[in-house]
Amino acid sequence: MSAPTAPKTFHVKSFGCQMNVYDGERMAELLGAQGMTSVGKGEDADLVVLNTCHIRERATEKVYSDIGRLRRDDGSAPIIAVAGCVAQAEGDEIMARAPSVKVVVGPQSYHHLPEMVARAAAGGRATETDMPAEAKFAALPKRRKSGPSAFLTVQEGCDKFCTYCVVPYTRGAEISRPFNDLVEEAKLLVAGGAREITLLGQNVNAWGSEDEKGRKVGLDGLIRTLADDPDLQRIRYTTSHPNDMTDGLIAAHGEIDKLMPFLHLPVQAGSDRVLKAMNRSHTVESYLKLLDRVREARPDIAISGDFIVGFPGETNSEFEETLHVIDAVGYAQAFSFKYSPRPGTPAATMPDHVSPEEMDERLQRLQAGLQRNSLAFNQSSVGRRCSVMVERKGRQPGQWLGKSPWLQSVHFIGDFAIGDLVDVELIEAGPNSLSGRVL
Ligand code: 5AD
Ligand code: SF4
Repeated sequence: MSAPTAPKTFHVKSFGCQMNVYDGERMAELLGAQGMTSVGKGEDADLVVLNTCHIRERATEKVYSDIGRLRRDDGSAPIIAVAGCVAQAEGDEIMARAPSVKVVVGPQSYHHLPEMVARAAAGGRATETDMPAEAKFAALPKRRKSGPSAFLTVQEGCDKFCTYCVVPYTRGAEISRPFNDLVEEAKLLVAGGAREITLLGQNVNAWGSEDEKGRKVGLDGLIRTLADDPDLQRIRYTTSHPNDMTDGLIAAHGEIDKLMPFLHLPVQAGSDRVLKAMNRSHTVESYLKLLDRVREARPDIAISGDFIVGFPGETNSEFEETLHVIDAVGYAQAFSFKYSPRPGTPAATMPDHVSPEEMDERLQRLQAGLQRNSLAFNQSSVGRRCSVMVERKGRQPGQWLGKSPWLQSVHFIGDFAIGDLVDVELIEAGPNSLSGRVL
C-alpha cells in the first residue's frame, strides 16, 4: 500500500442525532475551506470522516464494519477519521484495533481536524478527545450557504445524568453558546438561504446567555430575537427536558407566530418508579401537567416524545403504564427504543435486566400504540389550512413533499421549488403523512 498523500477529496458520513448532522456540516465546511472537495461516496474520497453515534447498541461494531468496507479492491484505503461520540468514548481502543484509522477526534475538538488530517497525510496518526468548552465554534469558518431548513447548535452537553445515557460522558457538561454568536450565525444562515432554523441542543431549553446589553436571556428570548428577522419564516428547537421548560418558553408558544407548534419532550417511561431509577427527576403527573400548560398556551401544538422499553427492573405492569401515558398525551410522533446497556452508565450494572424477547414484545406494543396516536393526530388535522415548506420532489410526476407547521410530511401536486412555502388544505391522513390540496 502506497503512503497517503495530501487528500483532495473528502466524504463526511454522519450517524445518529441532529447535532451530529450539524457537526458533520461544520466539518465539511472546515475541510472545504482548506480547498478540499466533498464527494458523494466514501469509496471515491481521499479522506472519509465517520461521524459516529454512541447512544445505543452496536455503535462500535458498526464503526468497525464501516472501516472494513472502506478498503478498496487493490488493498488501498482512504485516510479514515473517526469523529463523534464513539471516538470520544472509545478512541484509544479504535486506534489500537484499527490501524487504518489515522485520526480520532471527539465532538468538542473537531476544529483541529485539518491539522490532524495533515499529520495523517504525512504518515502519522492523531487523537484528540479533549473537551474544551466553546473553543471549537470560534475556530470554525463562518457559515456561507444553507438549504432552506438549517440546524443551529446553541447548546451542547448534559448535566442531567439519566442513568441509562452516555451523553454526559461523550458530550460533556452543559454549555450554552453566547447569544451574539448565535444571532450572527443565524443571520449568516438566512443570508445563505435558510428560511427555517432548528435550534439544537441535548438540553436545548436549558440554553441561557446574556444579550448585547448584558441582560440574562433564555431560549424564549433567543427565539424572540431570531423571529425579528423578516427573512426567517420558521423556528423550531429540540431536544427539551421537562425540568427546563420555563414559563417564558411556554408563553412563547402562544405569542410568536414563527415558533412552530411542535414540542419534542421525551418522557422515556410511564412508571414513576422507573422514572426515578432512570434519574429523570420528573414524574408522570408533573409531565402531564406541564403538557396541559403548553397546550393552554398553544392548543394545536404537536407533541413528540422518546421512549425506552425494558429499562432494568421494568415489570410488565410498569411497562403498561407507558401505554396509558401515550393515550393520555396523544403523541403526534415519537421515537421508541429498546433499552441498551451503555458501558460506564449506572443502569448497565443494575439488576434484573429484561430479556430480549420481552423487550421486543414491549416495543411492538408501544409502537402499535404510537402509530395509533400519530394516525389520530393526523386525522384531526384534516380540514386544516396551513403552510407547507417544500423539501423535495415526490415519486409521482408533479408531486412535492414538505413539512407542515406540526412537522407532518405533506404531499401535494403543483409547480414549486425547494424552500417554497405553499398554502394547502390538508385533505387526507395516514399514520406517516398527509395529502394536501394547494390553495
Ligand atoms: N438505551 C436505549 N435508548 C436510549 N436513549 C438514550 N440512551 C439510551 C439507552 N441506553 C434514547 C432516549 C433518548 C434518545 C435520544 O435515545 O430515549 O431520549
Ligand atoms: Fe441523556 Fe438524560 Fe441528558 Fe437526555 S437528559 S442527554 S437522556 S442524560
